Amino acid sequence: MKGIVLSGGSGTRLRPLTKITSKQLLPVYDRPMIYYPLNTLIKAGIKEILIIVAPERAGDYLNLLGSGKQWGVKFTYEIQDEPGGLAQAFLIGENFIDDDDVALILGDNIFEDDLATEIKSFSGGAKVFAKSVPDPERFGVVKFNEQQQAERLVEKPQEFLSSYAVTGLYVCDARAVGFAKELKPSARGELEIVDVLNKYLERNELTVGSVTGEWLDAGTFDSLLRAQIIAKDHLTKNMII
Ligand code: TTP
Repeated sequence: MKGIVLSGGSGTRLRPLTKITSKQLLPVYDRPMIYYPLNTLIKAGIKEILIIVAPERAGDYLNLLGSGKQWGVKFTYEIQDEPGGLAQAFLIGENFIDDDDVALILGDNIFEDDLATEIKSFSGGAKVFAKSVPDPERFGVVKFNEQQQAERLVEKPQEFLSSYAVTGLYVCDARAVGFAKELKPSARGELEIVDVLNKYLERNELTVGSVTGEWLDAGTFDSLLRAQIIAKDHLTKNMII
């Protein structure tokens, strides 16, 4: 399996912190934010990792992370010219993914759980991890039917649909690239990851696991502060990088 860390975007909600640097390079306690999602992939035994960055920050990522050799992995870098949506990662990563499975993780997502076993046990289709949250309107959400099977995924629903957010780790087989190619930009002008996932769901090939520990999308001041606290109290022991 290969890994992709999607680490572009604009980080507008964290301005002025993100005026001169990338959100995912900001400190989360004693490490840059991107170390946490990278750690999730490296702990799962993934050796080839593509890091997708915004053009203005590419040099900073290279300086910080280099080849990956220091951690026994190989980093490749690609530029995302404009933040055109999470599903663009599969298009930018097409050659890198080739015919392999891929674990895509967002560069600002921090998981307390060790998901290595969940990632390693992937066996085709797509697998996501849901967590009940108080503010589901901020995320892609998954609605379950009475049998607790996933019924539909919707990006940032304006009306309440479900409290289960789809967290920012998506494990997919190589068909994700073809599915992403079929997408049209949504009303907000982005290629939506939920649209790729719904294609697996329609085929009965989407598995929804759960996240039991804390999960943070560290993209707001409050979630960044919370991330610092859990990093200090709980995460350091899980880190291998
Ligand atoms: P968001 O937090 O939704 O977007 P953002 O980082 O641009 O921040 P803001 O809304 O405050 O302007 O993105 C989630 C993650 O995905 C984050 O790590 C950035 C990354 N991302 C990309 O790399 N490319 C994209 O096209 C998008 C939409 C997000």
